[in-house]
Amino acid sequence: MADKQIKRIGVLTGGGDAPGLNAVIRAVVKTAIKKYNLEVVGFLDGFGGLINNMAKRMDLASVSGILPRGGTILGTTNRDNPFRYAIMKDGERAYVDMSDHIMSNLEEMQIDALVIIGGDGSLSIAREFWQKGLPVVGVPKTIDNDLSATDVTFGFDTALVTATEALDKLHTTAESHHRVMVLEVMGRYAGWIALHAGIAGGADVILIPEIPFIFENVCRKITNRKLNGKKFSIVVVAEGAKPLGGEMVIQKIIEDSADPIRLGGVGNLIGDEIEKCTGMETRVTILGHLQRGGSPTPFDRLLATRYGAHAVRVLMEGKFGYMVCLHGTNIESVPIVEAVKVLRTVSPDSDIVFAAKAVGIGFGDE
Ligand code: F6P
Repeated sequence: MADKQIKRIGVLTGGGDAPGLNAVIRAVVKTAIKKYNLEVVGFLDGFGGLINNMAKRMDLASVSGILPRGGTILGTTNRDNPFRYAIMKDGERAYVDMSDHIMSNLEEMQIDALVIIGGDGSLSIAREFWQKGLPVVGVPKTIDNDLSATDVTFGFDTALVTATEALDKLHTTAESHHRVMVLEVMGRYAGWIALHAGIAGGADVILIPEIPFIFENVCRKITNRKLNGKKFSIVVVAEGAKPLGGEMVIQKIIEDSADPIRLGGVGNLIGDEIEKCTGMETRVTILGHLQRGGSPTPFDRLLATRYGAHAVRVLMEGKFGYMVCLHGTNIESVPIVEAVKVLRTVSPDSDIVFAAKAVGIGFGDE
């Protein structure tokens, strides 16, 4: 398959959605049709579309007007791993490998290559397809910004704006009521959203997975602010934050997901503790999926468009098994195998953490 001339490509969005997916789809379709004279087929609901033959022809009209729209017109799911597809057998859940079935379907549909837009779970599946000989190119998506092979994933900037706006709003009500406001944000095992939004939104405490916290330190920070006349405090906590020597708070396990652990709930734990130890009235807001919704920011629209256009170019240059990425100000590409090796997490020694601490933000570590 890898030596074939490319005439028809497929595109799919996998994993949790992120603002900017539609902008990538639009760029892929437009670049493929206008620049390379290709045909494009969109697979629906992530890898489920490949397994169940749910596909539609994408023409220019099909992507008209979608640039500012959140979500994905193709649909997505963070279940349906083709290499470990859940079925019910004799009343029990069993897992089967559907990848050969997909390979022959694609052959039949005369799809020569696939653009897979996803986070580390979907890109790991892309890597496995590439290892089976399917020409693929990956596009890095996630609000968590935790892919190590790119400086930024699209979706992160929009999530950041949502979280920062939430902090601005929490500030006014916190100040009026002399309360502590805790905002729990997403990010899985990385603290990028909490760190960036916390700094941009003027938080007093930021708690992230990479810097385990000690409750007493968090409480001391808030009590000291009160003693200095600041009668309110703002705490941003990443869903993956954990106390020193403790564990992350798991909300649920989704068995048939490529990434079954769903974090969440640490905000309430921290809120209760703060109320107890500071005696200050505390409220908790869990921002949740609001961070994944809405219209992408101009930054994300631009990045998504560059990624989409470049993904098709990379395919046409015969660079299969690659993921497009941003390095500095340039769009480049890296082997997917490299891209999914390690998660990109916050370095406690980074200049961003230094700046946050320098302006007085506490991380609960000291
Ligand atoms: O990876 C993106 C993300 O939104 C994480 O920040 C969050 O932990 C997870 O997905 C939530 O997944 P679900 O779509 O299953 O609620």
